[in-house]
Amino acid sequence: MKKSILYFIILLISFVTGNAQNSTIPSSIENVEVKIDSVLSMMTLEEKVGQLVQYNGSWDLTGPASEMNSKEKEDNLKKGLVGSMLNVYSVEGTREAQKLVMENSRMKIPLIFGYDVIHGYKTIFPVPLGETASWDLEAMERSARIAAIESVANGVNWTFSPMIDVSRDARWGRIMESSGEDPYLTSLVGVAKIKGYQGDDLSDNLTIAATAKHFAGYGFAEAGRDYNTVNLGENELHNTVLPPFKAAAEAGVATFMNSFNEIDGIPSTGNKYLQRDILKGDWNWRGFMVSDWASIPEMIYHGIAKDKKHASEIAINAGSDMDMEGGAYESSLAELVKEGSVDEALVDDAVKRVLRVKFKLGLFDDPYKYSNPEVAKNISFEEHRKAAREIAAKSIVLLKNKNELLPIKPSIKSIAVIGPLANDKDTPIGNWRAQGESNSAISVVEGIKNAVGKNTQVNYALGTSLGISERSFLLPLEINNSDKSQFKEAIELAKTSEMVVMVLGEDAFQSGEGRSQAKIGLAGLQQELLAEIKKVNNNIVLVLINGRPMEISWASENIPAIVVAWQLGSESGNAIADVLFGKYNPSGKLPVSFPRLVGQEPLYYNQKNTGRPWNEQHVTYSHYTDVKKDALYPFGFGLSYTQFEYGDIELSGSEMNLDGQILAEVKITNTGKVKGKEVVQLYLQDVVGSRTRPVKELKGFQLVELETGETRTVSFPITPKMLEFYTANRKREVEDGDFNVFIGGNSIDLKTTKFSFKH
Ligand code: NOJ
Repeated sequence: MKKSILYFIILLISFVTGNAQNSTIPSSIENVEVKIDSVLSMMTLEEKVGQLVQYNGSWDLTGPASEMNSKEKEDNLKKGLVGSMLNVYSVEGTREAQKLVMENSRMKIPLIFGYDVIHGYKTIFPVPLGETASWDLEAMERSARIAAIESVANGVNWTFSPMIDVSRDARWGRIMESSGEDPYLTSLVGVAKIKGYQGDDLSDNLTIAATAKHFAGYGFAEAGRDYNTVNLGENELHNTVLPPFKAAAEAGVATFMNSFNEIDGIPSTGNKYLQRDILKGDWNWRGFMVSDWASIPEMIYHGIAKDKKHASEIAINAGSDMDMEGGAYESSLAELVKEGSVDEALVDDAVKRVLRVKFKLGLFDDPYKYSNPEVAKNISFEEHRKAAREIAAKSIVLLKNKNELLPIKPSIKSIAVIGPLANDKDTPIGNWRAQGESNSAISVVEGIKNAVGKNTQVNYALGTSLGISERSFLLPLEINNSDKSQFKEAIELAKTSEMVVMVLGEDAFQSGEGRSQAKIGLAGLQQELLAEIKKVNNNIVLVLINGRPMEISWASENIPAIVVAWQLGSESGNAIADVLFGKYNPSGKLPVSFPRLVGQEPLYYNQKNTGRPWNEQHVTYSHYTDVKKDALYPFGFGLSYTQFEYGDIELSGSEMNLDGQILAEVKITNTGKVKGKEVVQLYLQDVVGSRTRPVKELKGFQLVELETGETRTVSFPITPKMLEFYTANRKREVEDGDFNVFIGGNSIDLKTTKFSFKH
């Protein structure tokens, strides 16, 4: 035995018997795996199971609370029968919980503290769907880094983010937490977020562990109803749902979270094929899988487990490592092992995975390293707010700008800012707000007032409220307003103002977990108010505050300018004003299609052709008879205050083989009057495949900034890897045949050419 290992074991024995602190583990023993094995070898079965138990700290409930009272929880922490806590934050709170373990338990294995830091901790950034609209991966990495720093300063060392569920149904409330409908874009955003949270080194004092969630298929809930059944075939699973998770695994994400849903009759939590065969087997990923909240015992409701014990057996066999507030593992896993129903090796494997993350975070060196009040002292919230403003401005998407109504001229004399969300300081914070304070966002009214000179009058009128009486996770949101008493004031204001900024959309809690909607239009009296205002003033800019694609067909036809502003976070109003006044020339592009009618959902650009697409031969083709088949605003779409002209695509060759690559080049010119940024998008179509292939798939994009009149050549290398998909042979490979190439500024208006591939 190597000397250093022997030394380590002796040390461990002494600290297990209470004579040593974890901090005495010598850093000379570099091999984490040796350390893990040594710790494991000293643990009792009950202590091992304890590492797989996660308790809620009782704030921020996002599921049914466990039956256990806090006294029992405290006792179990002291006994070392808990591996992690969620929703415990602050330096004091985490230190206190950690102390219970470190000062009382035999093994003194530090807790890891998880929290839903989804789009910022205290400084709130745009909701993920909105932030993705920036297509700016560096910016997204930066916001994750800032969130990590603020988390660390508050004891949190593990975020349940990024959510990388491909999401194609606007009714699904959680679409706001996603990166939209495209697997490639979702993959890149996921990796950027992971890099931002985890940095290059998890043991760094300012990085935290990330979670790739929800594994898998959660975004495919039937009819967009949260938690609903998912029917996902092999093709969609491998070619659409799994790629972002594979990218996350390859990027070294520390943890995964499984999903509430079943796929094809098997709940993900009990899905061995997904968790053991694919993730831990084929992809050789070595982090740990936390269940979603109580998703282990929820297999009883799914009707696949008889009781908690049975649920534990299914879950551990399937590769679910940690039980989030489910009370299943703690009550039955040891017993299952003792009676021989579960192989202890599976428990050992799960524990090793948990210990690995704890070692990597440096918790064994210093269990209190994340409960350090000094970290907060070095935080510049001012800098974080600055970053939040920049990223928020980048996330805004300009959908329509008739007669160049925008940007608003500095000479404007009066602006009426009208609508239920115009002076709302809370909705922009979103619903997954971590420690973002209620009502702490800059409202649109405030942002506009901050932006104008002294010769511009800014007046505000509510017009109509959303009429939400109470926001609660458990109650449906009632939006029921028939009170038009405030219409008059708003109409009068619009009449006497040079221009109107209408701020309409959704309340923060209309989207999010458990908040799917069958209607995605402007709720309450908003639409009616908009129509009334339009009668007295046609200079209207509609600013949409939204967590999902909304049904805005009427506005699209009747309102001259439309800006999608999502829920942009702490600096919302300032960022919106930056765009409205042209301080920032909008560059955002939709990461998700906006439908004409909710009945088109799920709607996404990368559909299949079907056997009956529209063409001259098909009298009947796949479409609706009462609404056009396409999106109102497609994936990838977004305007600028300038215009970009695309030249034809030039390919470096017309044939490719496995050793080769083709360069696709296109010239882009800024033909407008101001400098601007464009997201140049590359799509490919595999014309004939052993499985049917989408009409096009995003395969690359670049952000280019061009001065007025400037022309730039943008090049995309097309490699064989980019042509691969999960074929009828059940493996990822490239098939011979023709490929169409498309390049442009959105998924519809594209230049096109083609090449062929042969092995
Ligand atoms: C349930 C959600 O599905 C998951 O995303 C979240 O991280 C957990 N609750 C913890 O709050």
